[in-house]
Amino acid sequence: MARFTSPDRALMQKKSLSAIRKKLDRIAVRVMKNAYAPYSNFHVGAAVLLTNGKIFAGCNVENASYGMTNCAERTAIFSAVAELGPKIEIRAVAVTNDHGVACSPCGACRQVIYEFGPDAVIFFQGARGPKQAHITELLPEGFRLQ
Ligand code: THU
Repeated sequence: MARFTSPDRALMQKKSLSAIRKKLDRIAVRVMKNAYAPYSNFHVGAAVLLTNGKIFAGCNVENASYGMTNCAERTAIFSAVAELGPKIEIRAVAVTNDHGVACSPCGACRQVIYEFGPDAVIFFQGARGPKQAHITELLPEGFRLQ
């Protein structure tokens, strides 16, 4: 999936997390409509802001062999790597779904976010409304080689 926006320097400099969330949420809702989810009927969208200001989007892509499913978060992150290479640094991730229910990144996605964003903030729907959390709150003691 192509990058949605060019580097947004104003957004990066403002450092307002609520402004960042608003922008990422809007992009996540838009890409959610591309989800391929005929098995769960649960459509998910994710937007990833990199430290260089670029934003990538992704949706979930399911498969008849259920375990092959790719979550929205990983779709977005892998797109970023495919376009920019392995040195990407994630600043923030937003996740949204079409059921309006609580939905934080799954364990596999937390590990992938941690790989490229050990200081990332995650915006998601919690049990009692919108939540944000540092990746290390969601994934304490994340695995790293070396
Ligand atoms: N899913 C995501 O894409 N991201 C999440 O954070 C949670 C779950 C997808 C995987 C599957 O296609 C569907 O939601 C139901 O689990």
